[in-house]
Amino acid sequence: MIFNRAMLARAVLAAALCASAGGVAAQGKIKVGFMLPYTGTYAALGTAIENGFRLYVQEQGGKLGGRELEYFKVDDESEPSKAVDNINKLIKRDNVDVVVGTVHSGVVMAMAKVAKDTNTLLVVPNAGAEAVTGPMCAPNIFRSSFSNWQPGYAMGKVAGERGARKVATITWKYAAGDESVEGFKEGLKASGGEVVKDLTLPFPNVEFQALLTEIAATKPDAVYAFFAGGGAVKFVKDYAAAGLNKAIPLYGPGFLTDGTLEAQGAAAQGMLTTLHYADGLDVPKDKAFRADFNKAYKTTPDVYAVQGYDAAQMLGAGLAAVNGDVGRRGELVAAIEKARIDSPRGAFTLSKAHNPVQDIYLRKVVGTENRYEGVAVKALADPAKGCGM
Ligand code: PHB
Repeated sequence: MIFNRAMLARAVLAAALCASAGGVAAQGKIKVGFMLPYTGTYAALGTAIENGFRLYVQEQGGKLGGRELEYFKVDDESEPSKAVDNINKLIKRDNVDVVVGTVHSGVVMAMAKVAKDTNTLLVVPNAGAEAVTGPMCAPNIFRSSFSNWQPGYAMGKVAGERGARKVATITWKYAAGDESVEGFKEGLKASGGEVVKDLTLPFPNVEFQALLTEIAATKPDAVYAFFAGGGAVKFVKDYAAAGLNKAIPLYGPGFLTDGTLEAQGAAAQGMLTTLHYADGLDVPKDKAFRADFNKAYKTTPDVYAVQGYDAAQMLGAGLAAVNGDVGRRGELVAAIEKARIDSPRGAFTLSKAHNPVQDIYLRKVVGTENRYEGVAVKALADPAKGCGM
């Protein structure tokens, strides 16, 4: 075919239009929606997650996949009944490209349903609800944290190995507490112990006195407690004030003592917990992360900050593979799936259900540190029951 001038001009114009359309799309900002608790018992957790996320992005010069980020925020108040409205503010009103949230398992289950129905990319930076990487698992849903089963199972194994035969459990009555306790029971059973009493109270109540009296009367070998944030501070202090810490070891997933030690003080000393993060890890990435976090926020990072940082790393891995073109969803998802995340907790990969496969550490409270004692369970993967991916 012979090109005449008019054809050539049209071709050049079309190419220019095409490039500029692509160029504009690639230069616009990526919209990130934080749906986190900024008030209530989990407020500090939400802030730590956001700070961790922003730190990673700052370290990349403010860009992921070559594009700047624009942030939108909703306070979810750890309130499941408001979760659908709240996530829709980010998806429908703010038109975000990705939602990062949340802390509370009850809230995340409602979020995951909306994310699945609308095919919105969702990165969960804490909430361990097993359904999210179980029956509700989906290509567009990822978790940078843990499943509730993981630290619970590890603590159960350790408690049994340390001689606990009859154990009482206490938690808020909602998915996270229930699933954490179930994981604990499974690990405890595997190492020769059993749970003789389950105590609960509604989230986020902190009237522990009657339940502590019941624990004293039951005289178990140990207690396993799931609480976090402000509630964990009060529980550990009340347990010690009742004199129980002298007689009955208090175990828990590391949420019981993470980000809380300044406030818990003497009451927490010597406590053993299990978690995918610890103070004093021999991980070069952690040393750099802690120095940078300290510099940016004048405080030591906790597990929540790590999970926020890693949520940004996961998103960054996906966006890098598509040069920031969020429309290339299949490639973006595939890149996150095969990423090895260089986490401060130690490098991890994701399971088929998109949950971290990770070492769970045993930690001991010394001063204001959850000091690394050893690996409780190596490369622990959530069983992902009911996930068809
Ligand atoms: C949860 O609701 O899944 C949850 C909340 C706080 C934690 C851990 C898990 O520290």
